[in-house]
Amino acid sequence: MRGDAARACARKRLACAGLLLWVAAIHAASDDQLRHGEYVLHAAGCVSCHTDHDNKGPFLAGGRALETPFGTFYTPNITPDPKFGIGRWSDADFARALTEGVGPHGENFYPAFPYTSYTRMKRADLLALKAYLFSVKPVARKNRPHELAWYLRSRTLLWFWKLLYFDPGEYHADPSKPEDWNRGAYLVTAMAHCGECHTPRNFLGAPGAALRYAGTTDGPDGGVVPNITPDPKTGIGRWRSSEIAEYLHSGATPDGDFAGGLMAEVIDDGLRYLDNADIQAIVTYIRSVPAIEHQIERKKKKKPGPFE
Ligand code: HEC
Ligand code: HEC
Repeated sequence: MRGDAARACARKRLACAGLLLWVAAIHAASDDQLRHGEYVLHAAGCVSCHTDHDNKGPFLAGGRALETPFGTFYTPNITPDPKFGIGRWSDADFARALTEGVGPHGENFYPAFPYTSYTRMKRADLLALKAYLFSVKPVARKNRPHELAWYLRSRTLLWFWKLLYFDPGEYHADPSKPEDWNRGAYLVTAMAHCGECHTPRNFLGAPGAALRYAGTTDGPDGGVVPNITPDPKTGIGRWRSSEIAEYLHSGATPDGDFAGGLMAEVIDDGLRYLDNADIQAIVTYIRSVPAIEHQIERKKKKKPGPFE
């Protein structure tokens, strides 16, 4: 039997090595770590970007198109497939990708991958996330090359962008603030990357600090992203805490509507899995950011989300 397995392995060495690595990875991780990793996956919103829902693509196997002013990015396969996914990545490779925006071959990543936020994640959360990713079904699906403007095709320019706009480093709690505020700050800035959509970007695609969370008419996919600062007129200052919590949990708005477009995905693939304490922590933090008066004109017709 072992001889058969060895011969089969010799024939299909790559697939077999992948399978063994996969089995070893599942065994190495405890159930608690896997459960925690799955929670982190949802809190960090990896699923909607790395799953091509529109074309019923397999879970986390990539291929989702992200249209940006710089061209179209196609997300890579992050299942543990050894050839087409990240099955051969070490823990260090994975941590470096998420916290430094650098791949195993030293290539710089485009900031369409929000490592600019994930750099704040704690090591234990990253390792649990990797353990969970290595427990999902490997999918042999080839990555599709990005279709970018010619001047962006070379990744060498990215080191310059990172020099200007990338501020790496783990989240450090502010000891003058309560615990749930710090938990909220960590969830919002390191994991759920709310600012990657709700903060307008400059011409080089970097979110600008001056209008943090104040919304934009030029969000991802060219859509409208509302102001979520506590400004009563142009932000969500009039929403009660319980209303914000309900929205983040179920997508229901105080006026009886539902979250649409990208926010519906953010909730459906991520936030709805969070426990009440974490939703509360997000609400606490988001209510504490500076109020900014910034009127965002809403488009009448929006892309329907999964709740509509
Ligand atoms: C907003 C969309 C988006 C989100 C959210 C996102 N990614 Fe990505 N990710 C990308 C894009 C785009 C790339 C390709 C970057 C490049 O080619 O430079 C990428 C690249 C990667 C890579 C490198 C894969 C390779 O083969 O080089 C890994 C690993 C990865 N993402 C993991 C994650 C994890 C884990 C999460 C959640 C914590 C996550 N991503 C969330 C868009 C996203
Ligand atoms: C991938 C982009 C994206 C991310 C990430 C994101 N949002 Fe949103 N958000 C949107 C869009 C787009 C809308 C508008 C939804 C609509 O048109 O129904 C929205 C709407 C909202 C609203 C409703 C505001 C209103 O006036 O209707 C709140 C509150 C909100 N987001 C909070 C958050 C929080 C908190 C986070 C992080 C935990 C977050 N969002 C992450 C894109 C995003």
